[in-house]
Amino acid sequence: MSLRVAIMTDETGWHTSRLKKAFRARDVEARCVDLAACRIDTTWKPHGIAIPGFGHTLPDAVFVRGIAGGTFEQVTLRLGMLHALRECGVPVYNEARAIERSVDKSMTSFLLNRYGVPTPATWAAESPAHAQRVLMREAAAGREVVMKPLFGSQGKGLAKPGLTLPPLEAFSQVAYLQRYVDAGTPGFDWRVLVIGGRAVAAMKRVGGEDWIHNFARGAKCEPAEITPALAEIAVRATQALGLDYAGVDLIPAEGGRPVVLEVNGVAAWRGLQSVTPLDIAALLVDDFLDRKLRASQGALALASGDERT
Ligand SMILES: Nc1ncnc2c1ncn2[C@@H]1O[C@H](COP(=O)(O)OP(=O)(O)O)[C@@H](O)[C@H]1O
Ligand SMILES: [Mg+2]
Repeated sequence: MSLRVAIMTDETGWHTSRLKKAFRARDVEARCVDLAACRIDTTWKPHGIAIPGFGHTLPDAVFVRGIAGGTFEQVTLRLGMLHALRECGVPVYNEARAIERSVDKSMTSFLLNRYGVPTPATWAAESPAHAQRVLMREAAAGREVVMKPLFGSQGKGLAKPGLTLPPLEAFSQVAYLQRYVDAGTPGFDWRVLVIGGRAVAAMKRVGGEDWIHNFARGAKCEPAEITPALAEIAVRATQALGLDYAGVDLIPAEGGRPVVLEVNGVAAWRGLQSVTPLDIAALLVDDFLDRKLRASQGALALASGDERT
């Protein structure tokens, strides 16, 4: 019987059709499921989780492609589904815990720093007085600071506040501040895709909206060489967060030395695919099946072996 995989996604389109094609090429049946439609149901035997399209069974493995935003409770429940699947022994790629770490930019910064991955100085706190002091101190030292929404993406809501802290309401009452890295004009940053401990593809994102070089903000994607420094830092950043695959954003600091700005645990790859001949969906699916799934099957065999002895 062929493997049955759930692709967790809130929208079907370019990414999901690429993934489905790559799964089909490996004789795996892949079905798109919206996490918002999954249910915890303690009367639903035997697992207590209902996944649309899977009846009372569970998928053999789960690929997380998209999680819709929502209230704190909605997102907690959606991530809870991924935690629950893992509890039931279903391999989840990327795992909920690692996704949570990457979605929370302050936890990302903490872990990058803790594991010695180069990243700009960062402060995250609830106290506006503290945030204001950081702005003053940095300005006095002739430096600029970037303020970001803690759960932001696609370059939305970023600001360079200068000396005046904006009202924290617009940032859900949390001030996340990161030292600004001037990448010159026209500025650029790098996106490096790491899959299974290997940097497989990289691009430069040039221009965009002023200093914000997201693809979604109009930056142009250009192919980039994966230098040993870029690869090493991007792989270490991915490992620091415990991600199977990740889109790592880096920027050139003094002397062109790359530093990590953030790590995306539910990374899109349409921009990157436009500048590389590699089939990114196929690389993801291969790593998912050949490393992640195999490792969990190995662990399962070991566990049942233990039972027999
Ligand atoms: N500390 C920084 N210094 C310079 N540019 C930055 C800094 N932080 C973010 N940027 C720019 O803003 C973009 C978006 O920031 P990022 O942290 O990746 O958040 P998002 O989740 O919105 O993509 C980056 O790709 C980069 O171009
Ligand atoms: Mg980014």
